[in-house]
Amino acid sequence: MVGEEYLAALLDTYRGEIMAKSPRSLAIWQKNRTVMPAGVGSLFRLADPFPMVIKQAQGARVWDADDNEYLDFMLGFSVMILGNTPDEVQEAIREALPRGSHYAQCHEHEYAFAQLFCDMVPGVEKVTFCNSGTEATMYALRLARASTGRPLVAKFEGGYHGTHDLLAVSFGRPGPHAKQYGPIEDPAAIPESPGFAAGAWRDTIVLPYNHPAAFDKIMRHADQLAAVIIEPVQGAAGSIPADREFLAELRRVTRQIGAFLIFDEVITGFRLAPGGAQEFYGVIPDVSTFGKVAGGGLPFGALGGNAEAMRLMEYDTEPGSILMAGTFNGSPLVTAAGSAVLQRLRAEPGLYERLNLMGDRFRTEINKFAQQEGFPALAVGAGSMFWMHATPGPVNSVRDARRADHFASPGLRLLYRKHGLHIPPNHGFMCTAHTDGDITRLIEVHKAAMQELRAQGVW
Ligand SMILES: Cc1ncc(COP(=O)(O)O)c(C=O)c1O
Repeated sequence: MVGEEYLAALLDTYRGEIMAKSPRSLAIWQKNRTVMPAGVGSLFRLADPFPMVIKQAQGARVWDADDNEYLDFMLGFSVMILGNTPDEVQEAIREALPRGSHYAQCHEHEYAFAQLFCDMVPGVEKVTFCNSGTEATMYALRLARASTGRPLVAKFEGGYHGTHDLLAVSFGRPGPHAKQYGPIEDPAAIPESPGFAAGAWRDTIVLPYNHPAAFDKIMRHADQLAAVIIEPVQGAAGSIPADREFLAELRRVTRQIGAFLIFDEVITGFRLAPGGAQEFYGVIPDVSTFGKVAGGGLPFGALGGNAEAMRLMEYDTEPGSILMAGTFNGSPLVTAAGSAVLQRLRAEPGLYERLNLMGDRFRTEINKFAQQEGFPALAVGAGSMFWMHATPGPVNSVRDARRADHFASPGLRLLYRKHGLHIPPNHGFMCTAHTDGDITRLIEVHKAAMQELRAQGVW
């Protein structure tokens, strides 16, 4: 084995190569820093060694400010399921724009958009729109608390539901933040930022993902619990699917104690199947949150559920209805763009089969290679959500994912970028614009990166 100093120097070599091929991108980010904190509009745009600066996105590719071409497996953090700049979305926006980009009033195109949700997603009879996944999960919790009259909500360790004070707890913010995670059966609630209102996150209890102790903890708080929220496939934690039986038991237990079951389908919605994870797994929640894919590339969030669960959003007829409002909710451009995407997803035969097969192919080929060559690596995910962890596995939770090799993991990420993959740090996505050749390239880059690290004595 090689020493830590050698490994650190190796990673610096890769960083230097990336900087050398993208000097203009680096300069743009450094200029941004002079007027924007950290030079980024969102924490999760920070990357090693510096953020990507995109000049153009088309189909399954993006180009950086230095005209380097990358095969895109980030897809705007999962949003662009039809690839970047899909024709039908461009056309829908062009058609809508002359009628006005914004009214903050009802308009006749909301109905068709809402109807697509109700038709496609098994658990949705009524749906309402907002502007981000963060807003959607915030409203979902408010609705559950108001409906049940109970104070607590439960989330799973590793689950990311946006940035608000209620749920930005124990997802594992990247960076040098010392953490006390607590015992696996009873994970600690750790706010992921200073500055939260204590009364918010202290009413959030944290459950172990894919672990039976979750049900004991739920039962300990049964009469205080308004809702349990879960990502059916944890995205940011590393594309980690929940077991189907685990979800089914969660459905049974939440129903038994009279708490809302909320599926956060901000990533999985319209990605795993037309009806999202609830169709994919056959488990129907009371309320679901959406965003990403469904907004067609414009800022978007949505909240939908069965009519009874959504009752306290009938603001004009229901005493005790919740506060939900937003200047930009359901803007004419987002309903146009979102409808165009959902219509194609609903109509195109074999679309999900092909997407999901591409993900299966990646997992199968990488795992076969890792096994044959003796790499302690495991490719996981569901459908078109994927990630290869630098650990032999199993990977059933964010704690398992954290066991990944501390030099191989950053080394792999740097090599992906060096070799022209645009991919988030913990979860990749496929789109309909990817060809079989693109998936072959994805697999080949992974294999080459593994071999390169082995040749350097890292793995
Ligand atoms: C599962 C999940 N929920 C909620 C959110 C928050 O969505 P937004 O970034 O639109 O606020 C995200 C964002 O990545 C997400 O992955």
